[in-house]
Amino acid sequence: MRVLGIETSCDETGVAIYASAGGLLAHRLHSQARLHAAYGGVVPELASRDHVRRVVPLVELVLADSGLGRADLDGIAYTAGPGLAGALLVGAAFARSLAFALGIPAVGVHHLEGHLLAPMLEDESPPLPFVALLVSGGHTMLVRVTRPGSYEILGETLDDAAGEAFDKTATLLGLPYPGGPALAALAEEGAAGRFDFPRPMLDRPGLEFSFSGLKTHVMQVVQRLQPDAATRADVARGFEEAMVETLVAKCARALDATGESALVIAGGVGANRRLRAAAARMVEARGARVYYPRPALCTDNGAMIAYAGWLRLCGGERAELAFPVRPRWPLTELSAVDA
Ligand code: KG4
Ligand code: ZN
Repeated sequence: MRVLGIETSCDETGVAIYASAGGLLAHRLHSQARLHAAYGGVVPELASRDHVRRVVPLVELVLADSGLGRADLDGIAYTAGPGLAGALLVGAAFARSLAFALGIPAVGVHHLEGHLLAPMLEDESPPLPFVALLVSGGHTMLVRVTRPGSYEILGETLDDAAGEAFDKTATLLGLPYPGGPALAALAEEGAAGRFDFPRPMLDRPGLEFSFSGLKTHVMQVVQRLQPDAATRADVARGFEEAMVETLVAKCARALDATGESALVIAGGVGANRRLRAAAARMVEARGARVYYPRPALCTDNGAMIAYAGWLRLCGGERAELAFPVRPRWPLTELSAVDA
């Protein structure tokens, strides 16, 4: 079965083809980051319009990359939620219509299921069951994955997502949007230990996260010090260390609580080098292992949607002709897949 995957939940148009024979045949992405940079965040209507412009050319490109024609497709998967309603509707309407025109099935995929299963696209994929830390611009959660579709949420953020905290702190430090990678680069130049920011919620048990207090703390320091360039780098370093230590400590707790020895880190913040290094040290000390999707599949992409959709289509799932999207969609409402 060859499945075309379409991701349009936020500010990236991702398109890919995943096949039973050959795996991931092609994937392409268009990021709208530059489009939204002037506004300091994603403007939903601009996002929807840009998805309209990009999706057809990207489909043509992945078909050409994989040497396939439209008639070679056996199914189409699209992100049905969660995400921006207008952006989701572009992908859903396009995917459902194309599937109808080609006379093939379609399936709506949960965006977070895509992120959770993305490491399965790698040669060294994690054994099931595993614990996943999903850290993106919109979500921060620890999930126990027993099999595709069977997700137990161990802990979530009570306020900001980790990527959002990176982005907001980057804005405070005068860095361009999206700030996560820029803040990480600035932190490389900073001195460790000059700013010892709070490690949120490490002083009590549990697997919940909270980042708004840390962000406020950094804001107060920046307002008080009016830092020069060198001090800003030190602040970035202090912030990154507090974030990383907190995230990794919660991963350690989740491994201990579940008894699992495989940890997956997925989502955009998973690209952070300091997080990767700290996670490697933590799992090594436990005789466990950490798995990542390659960087291009950590952030939003069509490949993860093609893969999750392929699993569900192989399991017999079919979307109806209507294409409802779910801007809010609890992960725990999904049904397990018989793959
Ligand atoms: O998964 P993703 O592409 O989109 C969402 O579904 O949200 O994640 C994007 C987030 C942004 O907040 C971005 O700043 C953050 O991931 N990010 C990073 C790094 N690279 C991306 N945060 C910290 N360090 C990085 N190297
Ligand atoms: Zn995402």
